[in-house]
Amino acid sequence: MGKPAIYITRKVPEDLLSKYENQFSIKMWEKEDERVPRGILLKEAESVDGLLTVLSDQIDEDLLTNAANLKVVANLAVGYDNIDLSAADKHGVVITNTPDVLSETTADLGFALLMATARRIVEANEFVKKDKWKEWAPYLLAGTDIHHQTIGILGMGRIGEAIARRAAGFNMNIRYHNRSRKMEAEKNLGAVYSSFEDLLTESDFIVSVVPLTEETANIFNKKAFEMMKSSAIFINISRGAVVDEAALLEALKSGEIKGAGLDVFREEPAGSENPLVGLQNVVCLPHIGSASVDTRTTMIKLCLENINGVISGNGAKTPVK
Ligand code: NAP
Ligand code: GLV
Repeated sequence: MGKPAIYITRKVPEDLLSKYENQFSIKMWEKEDERVPRGILLKEAESVDGLLTVLSDQIDEDLLTNAANLKVVANLAVGYDNIDLSAADKHGVVITNTPDVLSETTADLGFALLMATARRIVEANEFVKKDKWKEWAPYLLAGTDIHHQTIGILGMGRIGEAIARRAAGFNMNIRYHNRSRKMEAEKNLGAVYSSFEDLLTESDFIVSVVPLTEETANIFNKKAFEMMKSSAIFINISRGAVVDEAALLEALKSGEIKGAGLDVFREEPAGSENPLVGLQNVVCLPHIGSASVDTRTTMIKLCLENINGVISGNGAKTPVK
């Protein structure tokens, strides 16, 4: 019998694979910045024991039903909304993700995005580089204060709490909404549990770190933006589909809210075809929440450990429950 086979859907550093070369037959999509075509993914999935996937790969009934040997799908992300969990369960395929190892890095990015949006850092950078800086002026690129303001976090989980810790360092008032209360965060950070409605009406910064599910899809809709303060800044580092982007666009254009910082979009990659990208009061990032070299390397290693664990019969380190 040959070695178990693994297919990796995006180019990752070869040296991270060398440890497993004797054990597995490993094949990889050779492009780093181009997604594997669906047809190739389906074909590869038909014969392999393990898949290492990224967010743009849809792991659904169609794929799973034709993947007779597949035992494990290790998603290179903590979010797994690209995977049909019940279909995986039905086909006996273990799904793993990368929790914890990216929380601090993603919180760093989330807070940096909040700061960049509030203090107009990107605009200011362009201003200098495009030779527009002619003189100092009292309100030149004046933005919004962060310290002592109220931050409202939707999704006070691993990353949400890491953001709250950063907010505490800025003397912010912390509010959060989850389906269940986080007593530790309330005690340690002074975070105040709020209804979703109160979070929207009371916060100066509203940060979305909630997973994309049927319940949270479009949770930031027209009504939600109408409830926010006209001075509010909306930050989304979770998934684009938690937002009704047409409603956000309207809210930003009409002055219903002041600005937005977006790391994630409904359609990714996003570019000038998305009208949000063209707005001056929006800071856009290309879904780089966990993108530090160290964290991405740790995430890839964790995916490989998960694949190895399942195929060798020792179990996954971080299975999705
Ligand atoms: P987590 O620890 O599971 O936290 C998620 C939190 O959301 C939990 O506290 C959960 O609390 C709450 N929640 C879930 N469903 C909810 C609902 N319907 N209403 C209100 N609250 C709800 O997850 P995490 O590790 O912090 O990651 C969160 C998300 O961040 C991921 O799913 C992913 O989409 C996103 N992410 C993005 C990037 C990026 O690059 N931008 C990087 C990493 C992660 P309850 O269960 O009590 O409701
Ligand atoms: C990235 O978006 C993740 O879910 O890890």
